[in-house]
Amino acid sequence: MNANDFPVTLDALSALCKRRGFIFQSSEIYGGINGFWDYGPLGAELKRNIREAWWKAMVREREDVVGLDAAIIMHPRVWEASGHVGGFSDPMQSCRRCRKMFRADQVADQLRESAWLSSWTNAAASATQTDVKWDIEKAFRWLERKGSTEAPGLVARLAEAGGGRPTAEALKTLLESWNRSPETRPCPACGGELTPPRDFNLMFRTFIGALEDSSSQAYLRPETAQGIFANYLNVLDTGRVKVPFGIAQIGKAFRNEINPRNYTFRSREFEQMELEFFVRPGSDAEWHAYWVEERLKWYRSIGLPEGRLSRYVYAPNELAHYASACTDVMYRFPFGDQELEGIAARGDFDLRRHQEFSGKSMEYFDAEKNERYIPHVIEPSAGVDRIALAALCEAYREEWVPKEGGGEPKTAEPGRPPPAGYEPRTVLRLAPVLAPIKVAVFPLLKNRPELVEKSRAVYQPLRRRWSAFWDQTGAIGRRYRRQDEIGTPWCLTIDFQTLEDDTVTLRDRDTLRQERLPIAALGERIAAGLGEV
Ligand code: GAP
Repeated sequence: MNANDFPVTLDALSALCKRRGFIFQSSEIYGGINGFWDYGPLGAELKRNIREAWWKAMVREREDVVGLDAAIIMHPRVWEASGHVGGFSDPMQSCRRCRKMFRADQVADQLRESAWLSSWTNAAASATQTDVKWDIEKAFRWLERKGSTEAPGLVARLAEAGGGRPTAEALKTLLESWNRSPETRPCPACGGELTPPRDFNLMFRTFIGALEDSSSQAYLRPETAQGIFANYLNVLDTGRVKVPFGIAQIGKAFRNEINPRNYTFRSREFEQMELEFFVRPGSDAEWHAYWVEERLKWYRSIGLPEGRLSRYVYAPNELAHYASACTDVMYRFPFGDQELEGIAARGDFDLRRHQEFSGKSMEYFDAEKNERYIPHVIEPSAGVDRIALAALCEAYREEWVPKEGGGEPKTAEPGRPPPAGYEPRTVLRLAPVLAPIKVAVFPLLKNRPELVEKSRAVYQPLRRRWSAFWDQTGAIGRRYRRQDEIGTPWCLTIDFQTLEDDTVTLRDRDTLRQERLPIAALGERIAAGLGEV
């Protein structure tokens, strides 16, 4: 459900995103590649708008934050110092039979969702000790009917759990033990045997230069943050900054995720927007609280409503050993409350480690207080792709709108036709600041050169300021619907009256209201709608 309580599904959203050019599966013409996504013409604009809104709030509008654009590939020692070479791993299990890989901590959840196991669970729930429905013969036949190649293995395990007899009770015992102990869980895909959990490093490896050996091995960065820590001294030396100050960076990060899922939510290539904000030791708690509030304010400013945002505050036993606090900003996606951003108080861990590994002092000299210290850091770290997905989920609506205009849209009731006089529309109610196209310009009729010419004259100055679109094809109602579906907040129509008095009709995407405005007032009206004045 979104704020309008319209139930959004990832299927409906991804269909729209593909149809209208927001998001495509990467390498689709070759069958796609799991965990990678391409952003089409409108998705590229949406992501650019998210980055720009973040950069404006975090860098341009502040005097205490500067920007950075570090290389993706860094010295491999960076990742030893950061702990990623030794510790950035997920415990993995692979199936000895079907070879699929699973994150050990997700096997229990995936088992619960697996179709074959739920049939067994239902059968077990309806069987009783006295009414034994499951004996070896029946279990075999049932499995054969299901086409399972796992019958012998599963029935043997059942028999083992039931002291030689695969009863309903034995089935329940087996299911419980699978839920309890990682060692005995079967493969969620086929029921086969899983290997014991093994650590799997999530960093993508590559080689620098012609030789492919350990001396030339490098990594694609799994986070942008380390580029900031590695440049901390360079930025200090430019002399523009004094603690407290921050360094912000936006860029690609790569993680060889075992189980990419939920559309673009967990991908193998994604984009981060990270700030490392360096503070005086002892002021960590105060600055952490400040950044949590700032970041929530920013999410509201891009159209994610209070009611769907929440914070997850880490308990002391959930924190990394060096961290004093961590709060995740969560958004209510159709697949549950999930993290958009983590805001961590990381102490001096990162700078101290780089000092140790590089031999360069990371101390800061505070001339006013005449003291030396390694600054502590507060790290708000957000993902562009997740924010784009949240914005799309929030914006997606199916509505009924009056055919002849002159009324408000109604939320569509799923599965029901619109009432008389209404027609359905799909609309993205994106915050104007995020909308890929801000304004569309239409001549009322395409076969009247004077209207076409006038509409081009209105369009040209607008497109120099904002992303604008000119469209003369099809009936005017269809042109509105196309823009609604991609989230364009305003449409302008040039008609015969325009030729006489230089006014146009401005139609609002959300209210459907139309107003007549002088061409000369358009720039100011759109700028106001975008919060630019
Ligand atoms: N430097 C801290 C850090 O990287 P993280 O919680 O691992 O922390 C920060 O990542 C943010 O990056 C997440 O909140 C999320 O928005 C985004 N992110 C992380 N892994 C991602 C993935 N596999 N796909 C998409 N976004 C991801």
